[in-house]
Amino acid sequence: MQFVEANGAKIPAIGLGTWELRGRTCARLVEQALKLGYRHIDTAQVYENEREVGEGLRASRVRRDEVFVTTKIWTTHFAPNDLERSTKESLTRLRLTEVDLLLLHWPNPQVPLAETLGALAHAKKIGMARHIGVSNFTVALVDEAVAACPEPLVCDQVEYHPYLDQTRVREACARHGMAVVAYSPVAKGRIKNDETLAGIGRAHGKTAAQVCLRWLVQQNVAAIPRTSRIERLSENIDIFDFALPEDEMQQIFRMGTAKGRLTDYGFAPKWD
Ligand SMILES: NC(=O)c1ccc[n+]([C@@H]2O[C@H](COP(=O)([O-])OP(=O)(O)OC[C@H]3O[C@@H](n4cnc5c(N)ncnc54)[C@H](OP(=O)(O)O)[C@@H]3O)[C@@H](O)[C@H]2O)c1
Repeated sequence: MQFVEANGAKIPAIGLGTWELRGRTCARLVEQALKLGYRHIDTAQVYENEREVGEGLRASRVRRDEVFVTTKIWTTHFAPNDLERSTKESLTRLRLTEVDLLLLHWPNPQVPLAETLGALAHAKKIGMARHIGVSNFTVALVDEAVAACPEPLVCDQVEYHPYLDQTRVREACARHGMAVVAYSPVAKGRIKNDETLAGIGRAHGKTAAQVCLRWLVQQNVAAIPRTSRIERLSENIDIFDFALPEDEMQQIFRMGTAKGRLTDYGFAPKWD
């Protein structure tokens, strides 16, 4: 496993996304992923599966200090007292004493950012999280957050795949020593039928999804693909035995546009 290093954090380059995985399926996939070598699991309060993620973690028997667990605080818990209380509740559901990474899930203009970041930094100081970061923050918000946060932020978790150009966010994160963590990294499965990616893959004996994930990891971006199929767990992590040459990297970069976002989440900020 490779790691993406950022402001003191070592984030395993491939993690398992768990959005929409529920109940026994979720616990089983987390357990299986860890048995197959995954060392990074991504959950969130709003996914309503923190309990099952914790169950999968324990069932795998992988040592706690070998797994990087991320959870995200939902936007209705951004007032300082709420943030601490809801983080405690997450830890109780996960049955962990701390998470490795605690993120603000989306920006919430209703609560002053500096207050929320103060509370997030406090959660780290009192040992609820080893590292803190943000998600779905625009470049302007990342700059504002870094200036206001008393503790280093280690990442911005954003939508990123070959159809979406994220050059500006990548540059902003690099400027601040932060990592980009790519969500929807296989474009919600759409890459499966992509002829460009499949064509590149044929030459390497890899699938379109593997090419896509390799392209992200080669940019020093961490990626958290989700699958509900055990066989795809192996496929999505089997990307460390080949490399894309620069011309193929550039060919994939050319597929991205500013308008390539797949989902309009409604409460999203105005992306620049
Ligand atoms: N911070 C945020 O606001 C935010 C937003 C969205 C997502 N996320 C996180 O990022 C994770 C991943 O994003 P996502 O779930 O939106 O999308 P994704 O991982 O890009 O795509 C998941 C979809 O792709 C399919 N898939 C997975 N691996 C595949 C492969 N090798 N070949 C073909 N199809 C494949 C899966 O189908 P099967 O199940 O049939 O394999 C599933 O339908 C989430 O689970 C969540 O943890 C965070």
